[in-house]
Parts: sequence; C-alpha cells; structure tokens
Amino acid sequence: MAIEVMDFLEINTIHHGRAEILIKQIAPESIDLSFWSPPYFVGKEYEKEETYQSWQAMLRQVINHHFTVLKPGGFLVINVGDIRCFKDEKIPKFQAMNLCMQKSKVTKEMVLEAKEKFPEFNRYQLADYLGCSEQTIDRRLNGNNIRGGKYESQTRMHLIGGFLQSYGQECGLYLYDRRIWVKDPAWANCKWTSNSLKSVDEYEDLYIFWKPGQQIIDRKKINPDEWKAWGSRAVWFIRSVRSNDDHEAKFPLELASRVVRLYSAQGNTVLDPFMGSGTTAIACIQNQRSFIGIEKEAKYVSLARENINKEESQLRLNF
Ligand SMILES: C[S@@+](CC[C@H](N)C(=O)[O-])C[C@H]1O[C@@H](n2cnc3c(N)ncnc32)[C@H](O)[C@@H]1O
Repeated sequence: MAIEVMDFLEINTIHHGRAEILIKQIAPESIDLSFWSPPYFVGKEYEKEETYQSWQAMLRQVINHHFTVLKPGGFLVINVGDIRCFKDEKIPKFQAMNLCMQKSKVTKEMVLEAKEKFPEFNRYQLADYLGCSEQTIDRRLNGNNIRGGKYESQTRMHLIGGFLQSYGQECGLYLYDRRIWVKDPAWANCKWTSNSLKSVDEYEDLYIFWKPGQQIIDRKKINPDEWKAWGSRAVWFIRSVRSNDDHEAKFPLELASRVVRLYSAQGNTVLDPFMGSGTTAIACIQNQRSFIGIEKEAKYVSLARENINKEESQLRLNF
C-alpha cells in the first residue's frame, strides 16, 4: 500500500495563500515561536471580504492549529489592537456639554427657567423667547452627541482579547503573559477626544500563549541593560511605522526583534502566518533564526520577498 508523504512548507520561504489553510502543511511540532499581527477587522483593503463572523472563525482556526505546529514549551505571540468599535443603533446617545465650546450666552439654567415659565413652549418658541437657535436649546437640554452629530449611531467598544484567550484555551494553549506596546498618540482622533473624556488611541496588546512543555530560560540571550529596559517590562515604548507607503499596516522592526529575541533562541524556527511586508522574517534574519511566512496577498508576498532579499544582500556585504 502506498504511503502518502506530506510535503511540508519549506523554511526561510514566504508562502502565498491563506493562513488557515497553509498552516495545516507545517510539520507538526516544528515551530519554536509564532509571532503575528492579524487583520484587525477595521476595514483595510486586505480584509474587505471578511464578515465579523468569518474573521473570528479564521482567527480561531489559525490559533487552534498552533497546538499542532508548536513545539512543547513553544510560544504564540499575537499583536492586536484589542478594542473593536461598531456602530450600534441601540446604544444610548453619548451626551457631552462642552463648556469651552459654547458660543451662545444662553445657559442651561436660563432654558430651564423659561421652560418653567412657559411649559407649553416647544424648543422653537423657547429659542425665539431667549434669542438663540433651536440647536442651542437642544444642546443645553440634551448635550451634544459627541460623534457624528445627533442623528448618527453611536460607537460601541468591544474587547477581543477574551475570545483570543478562549480560542487558545480550547486547543490547549495557555495565556502566559501580556505586554503593552505604547505607540505614538493617534492625534487624528482629536475630535473624538476634544468633545469627550475618551483617551487617544495609542497602544496595542501583545498576548503571549504557551504550549505546555519545558522552556529553557537563558538570561544571557539579551544583556542586563536590555532586561531592565524592556525584557522584564510589561510596557514597551516603540514608535509606530511612520511611512506605511508599501504596506497598510506594518509593525515596527524593533517590536518583532524584541519578541524574536525574548521568546526564541538562535537557530530556532519562527512562524508568521500574516507576514505582510516581511518584518518578522527580517527580525529572524538579523537574529539568526529561521522563519516560515504565509501571506494571502500576492503583492505583499512579492514585497516581503524583496525586503528579505535586500536584507540578505546587506548581510553578505557586511561579512
Ligand atoms: C496587520 S498585517 C501584518 C503586517 C506585518 N506584521 C508587517 O509588519 O508587514 C496583516 C496581514 O495579513 C494578511 N492577511 C489577511 N488575512 C489573511 C489570511 N487569511 N491568511 C494570510 N494572510 C492574511 C494581510 O494581507 C496583511 O498583509
């Protein structure tokens, strides 16, 4: 009887295809570390075919299969902006009374006093009486809808770390640690913040999962100053990539380098099933690790291969 021999994905190669399919062609227990940043379901070009449900199902399949491909004691590190925002018709309108932005001298107290005096007046009549606009009456009584005007639906915030954790747990991977990557503040959100008490969007999470098995703790893998500065720290300050002109959502090389240096050793194999522009592969080449990359967009496969070739030529020049 013929025995079917599976062709496993080659190492030090970027493979073109979908992560949830190609990950099944990785040799079992061959990966020491998997580090990736998935699509965040925020309307990028490369995720436009996903629904919220198909996006969750895809992440679940990819995470579940990590139990098979990781070596015992290996790590899966997921970088993700943890909060999703959805328009929600049902959420009550957020209301804000922004005292610094009031142009009319009419106050809430004046409107309430007029209402008491003329209980039958609607807001147009109150506006006539007080010499202001109907919107001023409405704002003084109800506050401003802080996002998109009073007819726009509100935005509901929803954390996703919880379901990533449950996908890990259902396949036997345990949440081992969490770190926060502090980027530079996204001041593009200024309207959101200036008319509310909300914070600017300026950090992302790293969720670190562990497959049961022995870990080798080698304190010499980074130097004592690096342990103090970031190795033992929960918060990593790394500026985000300034020019995303060749890829829509790259993470910084410094982020990939820290993860690769901390959670793997020289000679190990690192997987990135959402390889994008090839950042994880570059971190591997610079730190003497092998890599396996998967990417579904042909243009990013070419870009990653180009970036890897450049890095390897540079290395050869330096020798
Ligand atoms: C957030 S980006 C990763 C960027 C990468 N870390 C870098 O520094 O360039 C996510 C990447 O996953 C790819 N992608 C989305 N869905 C995928 C899937 N199902 N399988 C493989 N790649 C996918 C996208 O095309 C995109 O390049």
